[in-house]
Amino acid sequence: MARLYLQGRMKMRRHNLFLFGALALCVLSLLQYCKGFHHMPMLRELYASSVNLEALSFLWRRNGDPPYNFHPERRPLPGPSDTGLWEPGEDREDQGNAEDTLGKEQPNPWNVNRITITLPDPKGPWGELHKRSFHLHDDPTPFFVRTKSGAYCFREGTEMTFLKDDSGQRVQAAGEGQRKILHAHQVEPKSAPGKTARGKGLVKCMCRPGWHGPHCGIPTMVQHSNLPTKERLTPRMVPRRVINAININHEFDLLHARFHELADAVDLFLVCESNFTAYGDSKPLHFLRLLLNGTYDYVHHKILYVFLDHFPKGGQQNGWIADDYLRTFLSRDGMSRVQGARPDDVFLINDADEIPAREGILFLKLYDGWTEPVSMHMRKSLYGFFWRQPGTLDIVSACTVAMLFAVYNGDGISLRRREYFSMPGFRNYQRKSGHILVQWSIGSPVHYAGWHCSWCFRPEGISQKLISAQNGDFPRWGDYVEKRDLNYIKGLIRTGGWFDDSVGEYPPTDPKEPMYAPKYLLKNFQLYCYILENQYA
Ligand SMILES: *[C@@H]1O[C@H](CO)[C@@H](O)[C@H](O)[C@H]1NC(C)=O
Ligand SMILES: *[C@@H]1O[C@H](CO)[C@@H](O)[C@H](O)[C@H]1NC(C)=O
Repeated sequence: MARLYLQGRMKMRRHNLFLFGALALCVLSLLQYCKGFHHMPMLRELYASSVNLEALSFLWRRNGDPPYNFHPERRPLPGPSDTGLWEPGEDREDQGNAEDTLGKEQPNPWNVNRITITLPDPKGPWGELHKRSFHLHDDPTPFFVRTKSGAYCFREGTEMTFLKDDSGQRVQAAGEGQRKILHAHQVEPKSAPGKTARGKGLVKCMCRPGWHGPHCGIPTMVQHSNLPTKERLTPRMVPRRVINAININHEFDLLHARFHELADAVDLFLVCESNFTAYGDSKPLHFLRLLLNGTYDYVHHKILYVFLDHFPKGGQQNGWIADDYLRTFLSRDGMSRVQGARPDDVFLINDADEIPAREGILFLKLYDGWTEPVSMHMRKSLYGFFWRQPGTLDIVSACTVAMLFAVYNGDGISLRRREYFSMPGFRNYQRKSGHILVQWSIGSPVHYAGWHCSWCFRPEGISQKLISAQNGDFPRWGDYVEKRDLNYIKGLIRTGGWFDDSVGEYPPTDPKEPMYAPKYLLKNFQLYCYILENQYA
């Protein structure tokens, strides 16, 4: 009896131990996630609530988007309440015959204007667009300049007067800059260029505001990041090639913003479009149409078109399957068509509404010595850049091509899930790399390294997004006809409210504040004012 009792106790104890272990593991992985924030005690407190919420939601939600909701009814026909969609005199864009189709069709421009867009003739000048391959080449851009005194300076980050004086083209400059230059010369007086080049940190460049390090190539968003290896960063002689993979639906203005932001930092954009919505409905290839009609000609040579022509099994019942599959297909099909990639090239995967800032990506391209995987703190906003949300969205989105294949099996969705330390290939990969690999984030909660602009469309685009949303993020607001009403949506934009009728409580913002929006949008303010300023306030 006593033995039985003892055995029972032992079993209980083992059981408890196991439970305790499991709990500890949970806490550990949660800590691992929050680590990025924890090096800044003040911010930790400031953002504790939002961070914790996000940490939890990451366990099952793909990004910081506000949740959807579920209603079993599929696609109710638009009722009488839909007829007041456009106010008189309002810009209707290309919805020419919208009125005729109301009540028969979905009330949105894309469906009303449904045209069949097919892949171009394989024998034509485009070839088989979705099967082409892309050969990566080294970027010959002279990002750095070697000065006469042997300094190796990042052009953009270095005072021009310094460069000029150093090469002896200008002699009689005065002022603060000149004194620093003299100082630099004193530090390393007339020695052979070959010799000085080796002495890292001896011949320093003089940095412009916003740039740091002996070579002036480290942007503030990296300088103030939690990168643990800041001490061993060295500029590369040959830049890495950067591959940016995205899925596109109808975020075409944000796509312009991305292309302009990253055009000289990224070598190849893998852009994936499907003829299915995330919900499983058929959808025209709008991006293809724009690609073929010249809309993206300025960056055309860097785009590889990825075409997803099927819907994953089970995606209709479980929307998360469809959601993940988009990223899996994008990375697998896209990368399989890339030739000449090297292990130390960079793979960067984003949603169309996540735009990394150029400086951070350029740093990855031009420097050695950072660890991986890499995430970035993105400024969060809703409906436009004017409703800024607290905290940042910090999504793991970059790693080397070597890590993509050795650890993540070539699947970008695994990269975004922050599970690298539990991936089967990780220990082996870490051993081979010779370094301890820790995830770090470009930027910090107060130094944005990009923008996450959720639902940043005109009202019609928001309605469109509701309809094509996947089936798994509930409630699914697209199932409610009143939530798709453009006047209702305008009301949300005006107040920063959400589809559950909660009101937004956001602090006021100013387009002049730093990192308010991608530079290209700000430069073309009038053209993109609908996402830069609240049009309904
Ligand atoms: C998508 O494209 C593929 C290949 O062209 C085609 O077989 C399929 O029927 C299309 N699906 C829809 C829903 O349009
Ligand atoms: C391409 O097509 C889009 C949509 O129809 C149109 O708005 C745009 O002006 C066209 N662009 C060019 C360069 O033709």
